[in-house]
Amino acid sequence: MPLRKTVISVSSSFWMKSLRHLVVLSSLCSLICGYSQRDRVHDLMSRYPLIDGHNDLALQLRRLHNNRLSQIDLHNVSKVATDITRLQAGHVQTQMFAVYVMCGAQEKDAVRLTLEQIDVVRRMCTEYQDFELVTSAQELKTSEMRHKIACLISIEGGHSIDSSLPALRMFYQLGVRSMALTHTCNTPWAESSSKLYNVFQRQNDSLTHFGKAVVEEMNRLGMIVDLSHTSWDTAWAVLKHSKAPVIFSHSSSYSICDHGRNVPDWLLHELKKNRGLIMVNLHSNFISCRDEANISHVADHFDHIKRVIGAESVGIGGDFDGAVSFPQGLEDVSKYPALIQELLQRNWTENELADVLRRNFLRVFQEVEGVRDQLSVNQPSEAQIPVAEVQNPCRLVLRPPDLRRLTYDQNPSSTAHHGPKGLLILAIVMLLSSPFLIE
Ligand SMILES: *[C@@H]1O[C@H](CO)[C@@H](O)[C@H](O)[C@H]1NC(C)=O
Ligand SMILES: *[C@@H]1O[C@H](CO)[C@@H](O)[C@H](O)[C@H]1NC(C)=O
Ligand SMILES: *[C@@H]1O[C@H](CO)[C@@H](O)[C@H](O)[C@H]1NC(C)=O
Ligand SMILES: [Zn+2]
Repeated sequence: MPLRKTVISVSSSFWMKSLRHLVVLSSLCSLICGYSQRDRVHDLMSRYPLIDGHNDLALQLRRLHNNRLSQIDLHNVSKVATDITRLQAGHVQTQMFAVYVMCGAQEKDAVRLTLEQIDVVRRMCTEYQDFELVTSAQELKTSEMRHKIACLISIEGGHSIDSSLPALRMFYQLGVRSMALTHTCNTPWAESSSKLYNVFQRQNDSLTHFGKAVVEEMNRLGMIVDLSHTSWDTAWAVLKHSKAPVIFSHSSSYSICDHGRNVPDWLLHELKKNRGLIMVNLHSNFISCRDEANISHVADHFDHIKRVIGAESVGIGGDFDGAVSFPQGLEDVSKYPALIQELLQRNWTENELADVLRRNFLRVFQEVEGVRDQLSVNQPSEAQIPVAEVQNPCRLVLRPPDLRRLTYDQNPSSTAHHGPKGLLILAIVMLLSSPFLIE
């Protein structure tokens, strides 16, 4: 009997203690659970670090520092949302860096300015050990194993190639692996979603004959076609024409926020047929259609697009340093884990999030390379835009001069559209150097 009593008293004091422990534990629970949720995100993002579709740091380097890299330390850059420290904190393993030049440079020095932006990204990604410039899906994967941040170069706006396929090919040689067909201006061959400029407006011709040649040449080269910033008509025409999957590198859902830069559901269905990818833009104005937004609003876009075309068609294209207002809690590139945590809480599976973070983009990139390999028997395209479609007074088109006219009128023939001064210079240059004149 005494034994039994002891057992009972021991047992009751055991439960009293356990109860106290339980109270302590439960008061700690929110703390512990919070941390474990965050641990889960960091674990997931360590295994599947982010490939981000769009970043405009290079534009800020131009704007704030005139591209003088020697004046800054890219580990810690003020007045911007992107630097090495914050990319690492955000588990960003690959960043597509936009080489963007203003639409005002179209028909002026867009090609030079684009070269200068490529130069600054190439310098940034070769002079810093934490970065690595990559040009293929395989190099991208290798850079992850080497714990580097991979840099991909993308042109933002078809005006950068000045309607020239040779220029497009040379940009490819410099490492460019993606190009948005327009920015906020129409090009002579494709239409922009914005109505800011009224040049090169056409009816029912959202992707001209030459525009199709640009898409074909990008397919042949293995350069990803980016439809962010194009009009819906142009996007639709490209989706019909492209042999390879395409991306919207930084666009969100029009059903959630009806901004012209976002993608409507009917176009999402076409994108899915193309096996392409929409990388959700975080800029507040495209998320909530207002200057303010929060992570819930962003997650609504992800939920909606997943519902319409599935998680295998979704990615992330932050647009940091390319826009001014970002949602509360997503102010710079270090904040991506907060977004992934929100999606986990909304019952996205780790498998779906691994796709969104990384695997979807890798699949698209590899398929684009596969199409390039299939087309490798094709010769470089010699398609040229008709001069009448370019309307560019700076464009010089050399042809053998008409000797009879030269003899009788002292005026070399050329189809160049340029002023009297240009004609005079051309005449002198041709008289001095043209082999056509020496018979
Ligand atoms: C970044 O530089 C600023 C000064 O420009 C300094 O206050 C800050 O501590 C630095 N941050 C890091 C992470 O080094
Ligand atoms: C453009 O297409 C619409 C509808 O397909 C048609 O009504 C219109 O006449 C066309 N305009 C031109 C200039 O071809
Ligand atoms: C975001 O803002 C909405 C109101 O617009 C609110 O209902 C929601 O709780 C907010 N979410 C967060 C995470 O703050
Ligand atoms: Zn943009």
